[in-house]
Amino acid sequence: MVAIRRMNFDDLHIVTEIERLLWPNYPWTADDFINSGCNCYVLLEDGFIVGYSVFYVNNKVSFIANISIRPDKQRQGFGRLMLSYLVNKARKSRSNKIELEVDVANNRAIRLYESFGFQIMNNHHQYYARTQGDSFKMQLRL
Ligand SMILES: CC(C)(COP(=O)(O)OP(=O)(O)OC[C@H]1O[C@@H](n2cnc3c(N)ncnc32)[C@H](O)[C@@H]1OP(=O)(O)O)[C@@H](O)C(=O)NCCC(=O)NCCS
Repeated sequence: MVAIRRMNFDDLHIVTEIERLLWPNYPWTADDFINSGCNCYVLLEDGFIVGYSVFYVNNKVSFIANISIRPDKQRQGFGRLMLSYLVNKARKSRSNKIELEVDVANNRAIRLYESFGFQIMNNHHQYYARTQGDSFKMQLRL
């Protein structure tokens, strides 16, 4: 059974473990999640955390700061499920649009977002402070 719910303090041990697997050079720490001021969600399969997301709404604009699925659980539809959940949250919050930043080299994520109708708006040179990587700003009008 698959479920999505708000992330709580007890989840942070597993979430940060996945974070370190996915982003070994610049993982978010437990404090980063706690202090982010964002709504964080976990996706569970049979009670075990397989992914999580970071989301917030500001002035009728929703932002997706992160969607991450454990490496051994990728390409099984979980990313798509989390993204639909966030799109629903954005609609319920009466946002006009959803925005996100994605690494220009992250084709898997870009394809996922494009399949929901997100469009690339512009290229931010060296958006990622820690890696100096470039990002695309993507947007979905609601
Ligand atoms: C990006 C990510 C969230 C996608 O999650 P996922 O559970 O693997 O994706 P899904 O199985 O739901 O696939 C949804 C769509 O994503 C795209 N996609 C996912 N994996 C892909 C791959 N390896 N190659 C190409 N496209 C891929 C496809 O469009 C796919 O649709 P399809 O299966 O009908 O072709 C996941 O790969 C991930 O956690 N990556 C590391 C963290 C990350 O980069 N997050 C994004 C930060 S902005």
